[in-house]
Amino acid sequence: MKTNLLITAIIMIFISSCNVTNVTIPENAMAIIPAPLSMTIQKGNFLFSEKCRIVVSALDDDTKVAAETLALLIKNPTGMEIPVIEGTKAGRGSVFMTLDTAVKNNEGYTLRITPKKIIVRARTAAGLFYAVQTIRQLLPPDVEKESVIEGIQLSLPACDIVDEPAFTYRGMHLDVCRHMFPVEEIKKYIDMLAMHKMNTFHWHLTDDQGWRIEIKKLPELTKTGAYRKETVVGHARNKPNIFDGEAYGGFYTQEQIREIIDYAGSKFITVIPEIEMPGHSLAALASYPDIACTKGPFEVGTTWGVFSDVLCAGKEETFTFIQDVLTEVIDLFPGKYIHIGGDECPKIRWEKCPLCQKRIKDEGLADENELQSYFIRRIESFVTSKGKKIIGWDEILEGGLAPEATVMSWRGTEGGIAAARQKHDVIMTPTSFAYLDYYQTEPAGQPLAIGGYVPLEKVYSFNPLPEELTAEERKYILGVQGNVWTEYISTPEYLEYMAFPRAFAIAETGWTPDRLKDFDDFLARLEVLKTRYEALNLNYFKGEYRDTRKTANP
Ligand code: ACM
Ligand code: ZN
Repeated sequence: MKTNLLITAIIMIFISSCNVTNVTIPENAMAIIPAPLSMTIQKGNFLFSEKCRIVVSALDDDTKVAAETLALLIKNPTGMEIPVIEGTKAGRGSVFMTLDTAVKNNEGYTLRITPKKIIVRARTAAGLFYAVQTIRQLLPPDVEKESVIEGIQLSLPACDIVDEPAFTYRGMHLDVCRHMFPVEEIKKYIDMLAMHKMNTFHWHLTDDQGWRIEIKKLPELTKTGAYRKETVVGHARNKPNIFDGEAYGGFYTQEQIREIIDYAGSKFITVIPEIEMPGHSLAALASYPDIACTKGPFEVGTTWGVFSDVLCAGKEETFTFIQDVLTEVIDLFPGKYIHIGGDECPKIRWEKCPLCQKRIKDEGLADENELQSYFIRRIESFVTSKGKKIIGWDEILEGGLAPEATVMSWRGTEGGIAAARQKHDVIMTPTSFAYLDYYQTEPAGQPLAIGGYVPLEKVYSFNPLPEELTAEERKYILGVQGNVWTEYISTPEYLEYMAFPRAFAIAETGWTPDRLKDFDDFLARLEVLKTRYEALNLNYFKGEYRDTRKTANP
């Protein structure tokens, strides 16, 4: 039987509130996304007061971040400065946060809220941070505002929560090539991920229509490759295309990139950079035409789609170029993964290019698919030599997987299934469930989107573990990710409208075991959390969340 967390919680709070005076039980009690593994409501409430201390068993940089996140939530509406201190136990009215190896999951935690104190146990600082995100969602939405509210009292319902994620990888992607977003908006996006216990931000930084990361050794990439002369107006499939005639572009400096990585790190989110190769590389070719198969010149893309000009796999300069790029990228990004793209690479230039054909012959490759595989393997061995791992879109299966590659399955789940069977790690992000650039309701009356139909209910219904796989093979499924491609998403407001709340459904799919997922319950919790999103000024989608096509055609 599925749990009905919210409804049970409301009844329990009603019962427990009968004995309580002087304390307001927040209306939003127990509306937690993603739903915890288990939760028992107890009697009474905990009230944050001036005597509160946040006592941490082992205060280091990471546990301090988790503790200070809580302190800030209390400070925002009350103005109270709650000290974070090291210690072995907490007194009445205080919070005790302790690292405890009895908690088996690396990101798991237990949270005990009693009228006397709060005790959080986790194996790692990340677990402590996730407990704080749970506490956050149990506090009133006023904690999200940065202004003191006279007379406010912050209380939490007494409860016991045992929680851990179903998957180790819970991510959201963002394409900043087709359209760019200010650093502040990227931070807001990261905030939303963190609030819902996601741990990965996949940052798509290079593509045909713009190169967005400063590479100091290759300045043309941002001088030339970061700008397109104009942008297609309306849907790119409406031919003949018309263009706006306005230059568009920009890039993130290495300093800004570090700022975002650090910001994400302070929310226990790893940033995975994606540097596209060998396809989706027009911006690189416009900057350095010598790494193409043909002579050029090339222009940064002004319309959307897949382009024939790609990196030449026959030239050594191409590999030197990529290694120079990746050397700086690897220095910048502390996480273990580098995403090397690998998707949608037409082979038409390679078929005609003498150097590509020579490479096929010299290396004893069967065809252009194997040439792509050679390309990715070579990049993988460079990335591995620097102590990192590659992720690629599922096309990297074609021509044979590089030995350690993780596969991001986007053209359905088939690529993921094939990779898991080959004992390769997999991240599931299939278009029909996880592409948040697709329409989320009937297109009529909606702002222009790329196409498709992926309503919230559909996103929510995804189970990343394919039935076709054995229990052993399923272990290779690391988790799930939602993708936001931005061909038609040009403003922060529209980005938020498309990403949220669908990203929260991805978050729950990544965290809550499938057996505990219940869409009606999720919707009820979402309704409660909306006041919080309003407080955060989030332009989330407020229309039809159900899959009405499913209802229409059962
Ligand atoms: C992709 O959507 N081309 C990975
Ligand atoms: Zn070539």
